[in-house]
Amino acid sequence: MADRPRVLVTRMIPDAGLDRIRAHCDADIWLNARPIPYDTLLRRVEGVGGMVCMLADRIDAAVMDAAGPGLKVISQYAVGFDNIDVAEAARRGIPVGHTPGVLTESTADMTFAMMMAIARRVPEGIEYVRAGKWRTWGPTLFMGRDIHGATLGIVGLGRVGKAVAERAAGFKMRVLAYDPTCTEEEAAGVGAALVSLEELLRAADFVSLHAPLTSETRGMIDAEALAAMKPGAYLINTARGQLIDQAALTQALQNKQIAGAALDVTDPEPVSARDPLLAMNNVIVLPHIASASVATRDRMAVMAAENLLAGLKGKALPNPVRDD
Ligand code: GLV
Ligand code: GLV
Repeated sequence: MADRPRVLVTRMIPDAGLDRIRAHCDADIWLNARPIPYDTLLRRVEGVGGMVCMLADRIDAAVMDAAGPGLKVISQYAVGFDNIDVAEAARRGIPVGHTPGVLTESTADMTFAMMMAIARRVPEGIEYVRAGKWRTWGPTLFMGRDIHGATLGIVGLGRVGKAVAERAAGFKMRVLAYDPTCTEEEAAGVGAALVSLEELLRAADFVSLHAPLTSETRGMIDAEALAAMKPGAYLINTARGQLIDQAALTQALQNKQIAGAALDVTDPEPVSARDPLLAMNNVIVLPHIASASVATRDRMAVMAAENLLAGLKGKALPNPVRDD
């Protein structure tokens, strides 16, 4: 059909979304397993009516210029959208969609998986058995830190932060939260007590980050914040690598200021294979997979497709980003 809108999809997303897009659009899909290079993006976006993009794509004014005046929608396959110049899109009247809500529970599940793995030394134990080092039951072998009864400090009590707090109740944890946009009642609803960041860092055995990346949150966990943490505490990050000053974290771990870290996100991504963090037993680094369950990635793909198709028709997006 001649009137099928042309769209660019910057990676292979699950078929649940691609099939919907292909049914209605003439879709140019970047098939490579690596992100589309910026220069190539500028070329391939030319003349499209809409695009589905990923966290690794910088979507700025130049990309919108390259697309041209026919660009009607930018649909992000993620909940976070710090890679997109949303203010610029708003100025041009281009709606931006994202995938909130559907990945909340999967991300909270992974937060717990990481917290428990680092505290109970699961990767070290696996490594030890695989290396053939397991000779006998050891009375003091791989002793770790209990999750139950510990104090969890949640930085950013949004959708994911709340889902983490709900899980923590089942583990009999005390939950503190820092979130300047949250009310006491909202926090109490998930069993969390709102405190200042200073108080949270001082009291928490586990500090878990769930804030979006903004100019206010960038680098919020710096040398000073790390120094304020309990000596035996762990840092968990499933949000954005840039929330942490990673050089300062490396130093805090090397100086044994904190007990360990579990990171699903790094700065930059991917982390270098030679990064000193990867040589530490008390550090887990995962390749940004907190939302990566089959069901959740399917739902994200459908949501991204629905935002795209609505935008192409000039309708309100089912899941627009808030321009703030
Ligand atoms: C993942 O990081 C997302 O924002 O969806
Ligand atoms: C995920 O970060 C969400 O807020 O749904």
